[in-house]
Amino acid sequence: MTSSDRVIIFDTTLRDGEQSPGASMTKEEKLRIAKALERMRVDVIEAGFAIASPGDFEAVKAIADTIKDSTVCSLSRALDGDIERAAEALAGANSGRIHTFIATSPIHMQHKLRMQPDQVVEQAVRAVKKARNLCADVEFSCEDAGRSEIDFLCRIVEAAIDAGARTINIPDTVGYAIPHEYAELISQLINRVPNADKAIFSVHCHNDLGLAVANSLAAVVAGARQVECTINGLGERAGNAALEEIVMAIKTRHDLLGVHTNIDTPHILSVSRMVSGITGFPVQPNKAIVGANAFAHESGIHQDGVLKHRETYEIMSAQDVGWHTNRMVLGKLSGRSAFRSRLVELGIEMANETELNAAFARFKDLADKKSEIFDEDLQALVSETLSQDTPEFYKLVSLEVASKTGEVPHAHLVLSIDGKEVATDDQGSGPVDATFKAIEKVAQSGATLLLYSVNAITEGTDSQGEVTVRLERGGRMVNGNGADTDIVIASAKAYLNALNLMHMGTARAHPQVDGV
Ligand code: KIV
Ligand code: ZN
Repeated sequence: MTSSDRVIIFDTTLRDGEQSPGASMTKEEKLRIAKALERMRVDVIEAGFAIASPGDFEAVKAIADTIKDSTVCSLSRALDGDIERAAEALAGANSGRIHTFIATSPIHMQHKLRMQPDQVVEQAVRAVKKARNLCADVEFSCEDAGRSEIDFLCRIVEAAIDAGARTINIPDTVGYAIPHEYAELISQLINRVPNADKAIFSVHCHNDLGLAVANSLAAVVAGARQVECTINGLGERAGNAALEEIVMAIKTRHDLLGVHTNIDTPHILSVSRMVSGITGFPVQPNKAIVGANAFAHESGIHQDGVLKHRETYEIMSAQDVGWHTNRMVLGKLSGRSAFRSRLVELGIEMANETELNAAFARFKDLADKKSEIFDEDLQALVSETLSQDTPEFYKLVSLEVASKTGEVPHAHLVLSIDGKEVATDDQGSGPVDATFKAIEKVAQSGATLLLYSVNAITEGTDSQGEVTVRLERGGRMVNGNGADTDIVIASAKAYLNALNLMHMGTARAHPQVDGV
């Protein structure tokens, strides 16, 4: 099955990406991302880990019921209950997949599972058979394959294929592999497992040594035909292989790699921005493909070269990943239909007229403050409008800050807390510090501020500032976001958004920590 020259793109932003501390998303947010992934022609969308919590189940189910053109997948440990729950969530899918896994490295089997290798094989076979009884498309993963023994891997992979798995995933769970070593592992498996031709070999690389993309590409050269990856490389610890980098490397170096993907690449940038906006994980400016500087030519020599002949310094075109094509500007006089059609072009669907009207009203407010509205502004604005759907326990009613040379900055706020208006004020080392202290004076959340970051959404001093606030309490982290042309207001909105997420919080299981 590895002779095809198409590489299947399996996106796990909504599952492994969400395992990044603080990156949790609501059902509505996940659905928006899933629709954008489908539009970009991702082959498989891993929508979540259905048994983790009722919220995770509902999100997988909503995505399975909505997405028609991509396969929708749910993760499950090699346990009957997990597999049944995954099948239940996927029941409405046009094309569904159960992804079941168990750890195979000596260190995981001995210390985490406390199982003998024979028991692990037996459990894997049982899980794959059970999944095949409920779903035609089953993927089996050997967790921590990168540190597993090759003879044991050959044995368990052969048994899983015999039991009915049609995709075999070989994760480098801890990001330990080096490209030539990982390529050798994949090629040994393909050559040694007697029934290897009945399955597609997949790779899933973590980025602890910064090698996730390099390892995935080396594996493709060795015969892997599915790559598991995430938008912006989001994921546990240092993240997963970045989808945009995998896809563009395969496209740009077709001469060398000789394979292709189905991805409609001009959608890459808008999906990257959507994920960054929803999770509050900003994209660094020098990030390949989607960073603000990825196609910016700072030095005079480079600019001169690019103007004379683009290929002197550019190996791919900016338009091909969505830069420039999406910078149509809207302004104060733009009407509702121009607004709506730009949203459609950006792949943003509003659920109904009420949502569209709410977003349009925000657009008009923004256009009063800012003469030109860019796509980045629209994305932030829609994110804010849709996040209003999540019940807001804390809400900003008004904010007044005083900041003057030689005087201590002061903030006066009116908040609505569970529908009741409360006025509060405090001082701080700056207007943002004063605002946060004033909020805490009444919220008394007991949370610790772990991160405060401000990004200008577009160019110019009239740009909206997009603020991320990460709070932690009792080991649980949340990221709150807020955008406004006034960064103190954006900061207050982000802080309150984080408090609301903390307030909503539900317990959920982590697949690899609570695993068998
Ligand atoms: O990193 C990993 O091993 C995983 C598996 C559950 C596929 O995420
Ligand atoms: Zn992973």
